Amino acid sequence: MSTILNPSKAVDRQFLARQVVHWQAASGRHDLPWQNTRDPYRVWLSEIMLQQTQVVTVIGYFTRFAARFPDVAALAQATQDEVLALWAGLGYYSRARNLHHCAQDVLLLHGGIFPNTAQQLQTLPGIGRSTAAAIAALCFGERVAILDGNVKRVLTRFLGFDANLAQAANERRLWDAATTLLPTKALSEQMASYTQGMMDLGAMVCTTKCPHCTVCPLVKQCVAHDLGTPGKFPVKTRKLKRTSESIWLLWAVSEEGEVWLHKRPSPGVWAGLYCFPVFTNRVDLQAVVTEQLQVCLQDLAPFKHVLTHKDLYLHPVLLPLPRGTCLGLDGSWFSANHVQQMGLPAPIKKLMHPVD
Ligand code: ADE
Repeated sequence: MSTILNPSKAVDRQFLARQVVHWQAASGRHDLPWQNTRDPYRVWLSEIMLQQTQVVTVIGYFTRFAARFPDVAALAQATQDEVLALWAGLGYYSRARNLHHCAQDVLLLHGGIFPNTAQQLQTLPGIGRSTAAAIAALCFGERVAILDGNVKRVLTRFLGFDANLAQAANERRLWDAATTLLPTKALSEQMASYTQGMMDLGAMVCTTKCPHCTVCPLVKQCVAHDLGTPGKFPVKTRKLKRTSESIWLLWAVSEEGEVWLHKRPSPGVWAGLYCFPVFTNRVDLQAVVTEQLQVCLQDLAPFKHVLTHKDLYLHPVLLPLPRGTCLGLDGSWFSANHVQQMGLPAPIKKLMHPVD
């Protein structure tokens, strides 16, 4: 063990676990659609959706997804297009592609039954250490620590852990501390409520800005609270470099109201989703239509779409096409009805249906 939990000090190592388990029962979240079950399929699905996405957003997606794919076999047997269509708007589409691959692996390699240890779960696509631990703790009561963004904040504040988490060795020390602090008894019930409690505490009380320390069950032993500087934790110095990029979108519409879409290549932004043809500049876009049709191009107002590491400036160019025109591009015509069922990037959907 590291020096985070000072062995020479008579600390009560179960204080955190006890407090979190009690607090979860009294004040945590209990009625989300993926709770009150130990079905690893539903727990896994929710955990993947909840990576980088708020609970309020996930609720609708989870409900639709679980209704359409009630078990891992149904998901494994779906096409990637169906999966991406239900995921569209949730972002981070590699999650959806991995989800589909994972379901197929569970079916083919594990007979349709999710493995019941964090170590085995981690071998599946899209399941990292923290997600594997969340599933194993919530469904099987395994004594394993999670360490997502919310939990890092709770633990670094509670411990006054001010080492830079951008360095792998420091992150490892925090994992070790997280493991040491886990409940030690009645694991089959306590691990589930402790794990859910840590996530809830991070999301509801130990928030990034203006943490609600007066209602925190850990306040009596929280180092950051004693120091009066919870906002300084966690420490992570590596800053992501944001870039920006402009792209031009050819929004071709036929007289019958069909639109021309093609499947985005992988890897790349929006991989696997259906999109208007994309160009890096206006000249390249114009070059794909005949001179006769170039006068029909209508430049619409550009708009910004924010991705994780990039600000994307989208420049839509509308092209109403006479009946029977053939576009010499990858893709095909899709009717408005069909488009509604397909997986399109959120900004493209919004462009086509601004009031939805
Ligand atoms: N974030 C990640 N997993 C979560 C869960 N099970 N409940 C609430 N927020 C979460």
